[in-house]
Amino acid sequence: MTTSVRAPGRVNLIGEHTDYSGGLVLPIAIQLGITLTFERSEQIALASREQTEGWERYVTAVAAELAALGRPAVGIGGRLESDLPPGAGLGSSGALEVAIALALCAVAEFEVEPMELALACQRAEQRAVGVPSGVLDQAASLLGREGSALLLDCGTLEYRWVPLPDDVAILVLDSGERHAHEGSGYGQRRRELEAGDPPRVRHVETENERVRTTVAALEVGDVGALGPIFAASHASLRDDYEVSTPTLDALVATTLAAGAFAARMTGGGFGGSIVALTEASRAADVLAGTGAQGWIVRAVDGAIRWRTGSTRDRA
Ligand code: GLA
Repeated sequence: MTTSVRAPGRVNLIGEHTDYSGGLVLPIAIQLGITLTFERSEQIALASREQTEGWERYVTAVAAELAALGRPAVGIGGRLESDLPPGAGLGSSGALEVAIALALCAVAEFEVEPMELALACQRAEQRAVGVPSGVLDQAASLLGREGSALLLDCGTLEYRWVPLPDDVAILVLDSGERHAHEGSGYGQRRRELEAGDPPRVRHVETENERVRTTVAALEVGDVGALGPIFAASHASLRDDYEVSTPTLDALVATTLAAGAFAARMTGGGFGGSIVALTEASRAADVLAGTGAQGWIVRAVDGAIRWRTGSTRDRA
């Protein structure tokens, strides 16, 4: 019997570099993602058409983390497919971990609650690439909800969904600048934060507050408030946290000039993508006006599993 899982990528609306210090994040799961079609097998043997270098190490790392949780050692044979650009800051490695984890749990009939699974995948990320990243990407891929953003407190692991307005479109623009967190300043930023470096701490404190004001604005339908909040977030990531780049700064400016009412870098930084908000009716024009590679993204449900030929279910 063949089964498929679909694990979406994510865009973080706001709450950047806050997850690993127990702060607030506000991501959506997006329609771009990774599909793994698989069946039970003696060993773990996956094929991928993707050129993503080193994806096999994530398979090994996820299997090891699930074994530590007590998953029986049942293998899978299968095929990975992705429409998520790697390195663009859209959570491609988190989605890969989630897809593998759900498939391995399915064949072993091993149940893990979604947040616990997200944490296991986060540990797998750290095991696979040695980067001390937070739980943002994996939680978004598992817990996203159609039409809503996920408000997650990474300290308490409490979460709830915040409905998004229908008349606002979310754009992702890819700077084309590629980062690998292994070689980037990601780990260094985390160490500086933990050492109490004042600008780094100020970024996190003000960014957590910006997540709260964003949620409050969404809840009263005041989307006009989001422009200044996104601008302050980008400036703080650029000046206090120093994870933006001139290319990302320029893309934010271009996107605002093209008619977006809010724009900021998203994800880990050092390249990757920006996120922008526009009136829904203007989204395609704004996207074209930037001249950049990009997507109008939709908030979709988190990872799902289905038997080939049957209706899709939440995993
Ligand atoms: C990367 C990490 C996340 C998070 C973001 C920054 O995407 O994987 O855990 O820290 O950077 O918000």
